[in-house]
Amino acid sequence: MKKLYKTLFEMILLMMVGSFGILFLLCSPKESATHSHVQKAALRRVLLPKSTVTKAKITKTGSVCKVNASVLQLPGFSEQPAHIQDYLKYRHCRAFELLRNLPDKCREEVFLLLVVKSNLFNYNQREMVRKTWGKEREIQGVRIRRIFIVAQTPNLQERGKANQLLEIENKEHQDILQWDFLDSFFNLTLKQYLFLQWMDDYCPSAQFIFNGDDDVFANTDNMVEFLLSSGSGQKHLYVGHLIYGVGPIREKWSKYFIPEIVTTSKSYPSYVGGGGILMSYFTSKAIYKASQTLQLYPIDDVFFGMCLEKAGLSPKSHMGFRTAGVRDPSSNRISFDPCFYRELLLVHRFCPYELLLMWKAVHDPNLKCSLSQDTPT
Ligand SMILES: *[C@@H]1O[C@H](CO)[C@@H](O)[C@H](O)[C@H]1NC(C)=O
Ligand SMILES: *[C@@H]1O[C@H](CO)[C@@H](O)[C@H](O)[C@H]1NC(C)=O
Repeated sequence: MKKLYKTLFEMILLMMVGSFGILFLLCSPKESATHSHVQKAALRRVLLPKSTVTKAKITKTGSVCKVNASVLQLPGFSEQPAHIQDYLKYRHCRAFELLRNLPDKCREEVFLLLVVKSNLFNYNQREMVRKTWGKEREIQGVRIRRIFIVAQTPNLQERGKANQLLEIENKEHQDILQWDFLDSFFNLTLKQYLFLQWMDDYCPSAQFIFNGDDDVFANTDNMVEFLLSSGSGQKHLYVGHLIYGVGPIREKWSKYFIPEIVTTSKSYPSYVGGGGILMSYFTSKAIYKASQTLQLYPIDDVFFGMCLEKAGLSPKSHMGFRTAGVRDPSSNRISFDPCFYRELLLVHRFCPYELLLMWKAVHDPNLKCSLSQDTPT
């Protein structure tokens, strides 16, 4: 009897250690060793063809568009941080080769197209999005489809390998659009512009678009419900977490730093946080049209706000979008109570395993939430 208890105890201990290990692996920060580990394993299993099509193409980056040399003469140019200089030199460049296309994604009418901004290396995030809110499916008689939009890594040593892995990943999932430009925070606007162009070419039948990050919890079931009740994709719709009354950040240390050399304006038009935006096809088209007449502004969600303003449209706030996390009203701490998440449309900043667990918890048929529960803030 004693021995049995001992073995049982050992087994439980082993299981606990094991699951902690898995949680740790799943939740390690972006660009950690985990993804390359997983991807390497995938690479080993699949025999790659000797030369892939992508290999020849990817060496072209940068050669397509010439530097605007006159920006070098702008007063104060040489004192700018490297990424600002880079932005000024190349901001007129918009034509980049589409390395991976999905021409059949919208062959059947799509009700909600999920367009997720992702980085070449964020394999873990993409996998979790595929398993949870980004699952391609039909609900309430309408179709949900998914694409990830990625570009190219600036790391030349990693590039060949990263693209081969992406090839394998895409073969299985058929959900990656990739362009031949360097992925960086200041090139996000370019990525968004090219996705709008792609919509115009390959997906004019979509009714609505969700455009957001790959580390959010998006309650796509609730989104469909909300969109079904808000009418057709042929009307203006642009909702999310509304940001207004702000302007360019002039602090050099900030990720969002915009010096006067880029704009002297002190204010931004109202816009919706780029973590998650829900819009109609009508509005995406209006933004696309306006974007062709405006200079690409390096912060993508602000740029969309500028395009809306130009088109004479305005963004709207929706209470279901929480880009700063969900706080429990009783403790004011970040909450993981699935009852809160069940009612929302989007919450920002989830690591992959949190996303999976929360999605499961919200969809647990036995989940009981009291009606009187305080609303989260
Ligand atoms: C090049 O930069 C100058 C100075 O900022 C600007 O006036 C000009 O329009 C730019 N040219 C192109 C092609 O964008
Ligand atoms: C954007 O991508 C282009 C093309 O790859 C590159 O030349 C440029 O340096 C990138 N800009 C930024 C700000 O990263």
